[in-house]
Amino acid sequence: MGTEWWDVEELDELPVLLELIKVKKTYVIGKRKLEVIRDVSFKMYDGEFIAILGPSGCGKSTLLRIIAGLEKPTSGQILFMNKPIEGISPRIAMVFQSPALLPWLTALENVSLVLEARGMDKKTSMEIARRYLSLVGLAGFENSYPRELSGGMKQRVSIARALAVSPQLLLLDEAFSQLDPLTAESLRSEILDLWRMGVAGIRGIILVTHAVDEAVFMTDRIIVLSSRPTTVVKEVVIDLPRPRNRRSKRFLEILDEVYEYIS
Ligand SMILES: Nc1ncnc2c1ncn2[C@@H]1O[C@H](COP(=O)(O)OP(=O)(O)O)[C@@H](O)[C@H]1O
Ligand SMILES: [Mg+2]
Repeated sequence: MGTEWWDVEELDELPVLLELIKVKKTYVIGKRKLEVIRDVSFKMYDGEFIAILGPSGCGKSTLLRIIAGLEKPTSGQILFMNKPIEGISPRIAMVFQSPALLPWLTALENVSLVLEARGMDKKTSMEIARRYLSLVGLAGFENSYPRELSGGMKQRVSIARALAVSPQLLLLDEAFSQLDPLTAESLRSEILDLWRMGVAGIRGIILVTHAVDEAVFMTDRIIVLSSRPTTVVKEVVIDLPRPRNRRSKRFLEILDEVYEYIS
């Protein structure tokens, strides 16, 4: 596979944002052990948007929770800006597959709550929350309750909530997989626009997905994982200009190549 866009060597020049070193995870359930992550190591560079791609159940969400500091690896190390991650980092925000909003709070309150929880006064929190809701296309829906919003709108609220804290690293766990195809596609474009505009000061995004097409369409590099117990099968650089054309020859070539690694 010696074609030029697979070459990862030149990335070595950039500062490292995140590094996983021999991360392993085995769950112990009673007397039984479930080895989920056998051995995952990779680097992510400053300014990169990467995908972690793997089959369902291989351990992608587990890996992302470990990166977010929500869970501890059985062994191995995670360095974020050259420092080990210790517990939940205020610099890392996560968007889940299904939007975990508090049903008794409005869209605005769901976003402002995370800012207030970080010690910001109510008025400023509300202002910032309003700004991010508007940025994700929800101006006018500030006072709506989750039950009054569509699936796509709820996912927008959770994206606004993640951006509002100005994270340096944004983690997206299959964030588009439960939306209808059209809504998913417009949210993908919006995320790419926000990323291109440098909104919220984000320095890197990790998209976890099992959809090859989504990974090739959105990201700069794909870390391909095997089925459980998972390891890194391959790293693929997606050196295609944006906006990407899903029907271009190179897009389809890369797609085919990645499908081979995953199957
Ligand atoms: N807290 C847990 N305790 C026990 N097993 C778990 C736990 N979390 C995940 N698993 C198991 O780990 C495996 C990988 O899960 P997950 O990380 O959610 O995969 P993916 O996100 O790739 O679909 C699954 O078999 C799942 O049942
Ligand atoms: Mg998952």
